[in-house]
Amino acid sequence: MIHGERVRLRRVERSDLPRYVEWLNDPDVREHLALVHPIGLSGEEQWFEATLRTEPACQPFAVDVRGSDLQPEAVSEAWVHIGSAGFHEVDWRNRAAELGLAVGRKDLWGRGFGTETVRVLARWGFQELNLNRVQLRVYEDNPRAIRAYEKAGFRLEGRMRQSRFHNGRYYDTLVMGLLRDELR
Ligand SMILES: CC(C)(COP(=O)(O)OP(=O)(O)OC[C@H]1O[C@@H](n2cnc3c(N)ncnc32)[C@H](O)[C@@H]1OP(=O)(O)O)[C@@H](O)C(=O)NCCC(=O)NCCS
Repeated sequence: MIHGERVRLRRVERSDLPRYVEWLNDPDVREHLALVHPIGLSGEEQWFEATLRTEPACQPFAVDVRGSDLQPEAVSEAWVHIGSAGFHEVDWRNRAAELGLAVGRKDLWGRGFGTETVRVLARWGFQELNLNRVQLRVYEDNPRAIRAYEKAGFRLEGRMRQSRFHNGRYYDTLVMGLLRDELR
């Protein structure tokens, strides 16, 4: 498990999958993700099985926060699953990886959990996987994500013009990158 101050990253379990199905079918969440078709539990199970066959560095993490960090009055120290994050396409020769992230619990957006998850994952990538660079792609109409990535130190590196067709029109995709000395 990888621990930050308030979040922890752990391996996805089969029992998490119904939550993934719920989140990935939520229009407010999928609006910002590269998803076109509805998601079903059987498909998620296939995705989960496939992740187990990928190299460990590319296997996704479930993002948890403590119940007491969600409600200050709560005495429970139990962990609550709020989202998913991970690296894909690790390029070992150039020591670079692409990062992906979703906080599925939209009621918790804007509380800093996304930024902390990016920081924890990137720090692990730099300090344990010996990456030199973490990159990501984000749609131009996702200012919340862009801001979260900027807070972690990511810089805008490029723009793939009209690379996403959604809601009957094209959107640009921004390319952002973070070098190991730039993590904040
Ligand atoms: C993107 C996402 C991971 C961010 O996580 P989060 O926990 O909401 O982010 P944080 O609270 O750490 O930071 C969000 C920042 O964006 C800011 N923000 C929110 N809406 C904004 C807007 N419309 N314009 C500009 N900034 C905005 C917040 O104020 C906050 O910045 P601040 O701390 O300086 O005030 C999360 O919202 C999410 O999963 N969204 C759906 C899926 C998604 O977009 N995934 C990323 C795909 S690239």
